[in-house]
Amino acid sequence: DDAERLAAFEARVAADEFIEPKDWMPDAYRKTLVRQISQHAHSEIVGMLPEGNWIGRAPSLRRKAILLAKVQDEAGHGLYLYCAAETLGTSRDEMTAALLAGKAKYSTIFNYPTLTWADIGTIGWLVDGAAIMNQVPLQRTSYGPYARAMVRICKEESFHQRQGYEAVMALCAGTPEQKAMAQDALNRWWWPSLMMFGPPDDASPNTEQSMRWRIKRDTNDALRQKFVDVTVPQAEAIGLTIPDPALRWNEDKDGYDFGQPDWDEFWAVVKGDGPVAADRMAARNKAWDDGAWVRDAAIAHAEKRALKRAA
Ligand code: 3HC
Repeated sequence: DDAERLAAFEARVAADEFIEPKDWMPDAYRKTLVRQISQHAHSEIVGMLPEGNWIGRAPSLRRKAILLAKVQDEAGHGLYLYCAAETLGTSRDEMTAALLAGKAKYSTIFNYPTLTWADIGTIGWLVDGAAIMNQVPLQRTSYGPYARAMVRICKEESFHQRQGYEAVMALCAGTPEQKAMAQDALNRWWWPSLMMFGPPDDASPNTEQSMRWRIKRDTNDALRQKFVDVTVPQAEAIGLTIPDPALRWNEDKDGYDFGQPDWDEFWAVVKGDGPVAADRMAARNKAWDDGAWVRDAAIAHAEKRALKRAA
């Protein structure tokens, strides 16, 4: 019966076994995975917009080629993740419809505008840096298809972070105006990057269950701390100042003490009030409408081929 099956499921998860699509799983496990994986996929797809805004305005052919490759990678990350979510019984159309209707979440970070070229390097450095902190442990998430998607994604993510940090490094080694651009971008992207890890653990409704079922391997606050500890020395190495007056090294905990993000801003942006959230949704809806003819053609072509095969 269900109690026995739940006990057997929890024993498998506790033994660090992967749960596969055809295995028995509690409905709540399936539901929270569809929630998290689809929102992760939406984040990858919406995340292409802020950077896409600068492909036509990159300062050199080299930077343009790197940015094109990165944005293309993000599209692929979205596809891997939608496919992983589909193994749980949801459909791509269902997930896309939820996003376009404003019913599904995607990472708050992508609702902030990219105002200067320094933002593009800073996104690679901080946003992909934060994504690496969060995604490396997800390679051991208990759901097999999600973990395997993460292995592919993490390989590309480190290129994303390095190219970003190198672009910011170039600005810091440039003219005083260029260094000021890099500091301005850090000032605007630091706190939203910390928000990517989610609310504090004591305000996180999903963490307890996700940790018990090993969907999450570390809590939001633990990963946020790791990100700060790794990133502060990177900023100092290129002469930038982290915009947090409370930041200081704490010898006892062998890590930094730091201030709290503005959680009211966080929840407002989660609820869809981000600075450019409306633009992001409009862009995604326009892309869906403009692409209808491609979907129709592909479906018509598939139907013709099926008829030919059947004949
Ligand atoms: N943006 C939007 N919503 C957020 C959020 C954020 N930064 N942080 C938390 N939330 C939402 C959660 O989705 C949840 O709402 P829901 O129950 O309706 O889904 C609510 O706030 C409470 O948060 P919890 O901590 O309880 O939720 P989780 O346990 O799911 O933790 C998470 C949030 C850490 C983001 C987790 O979902 C996760 O690890 N997701 C996978 C990674 C991911 O989605 N990263 C997003 C960025 S992708 C990216 O950066 C790609 C790179 O290539 C640039």
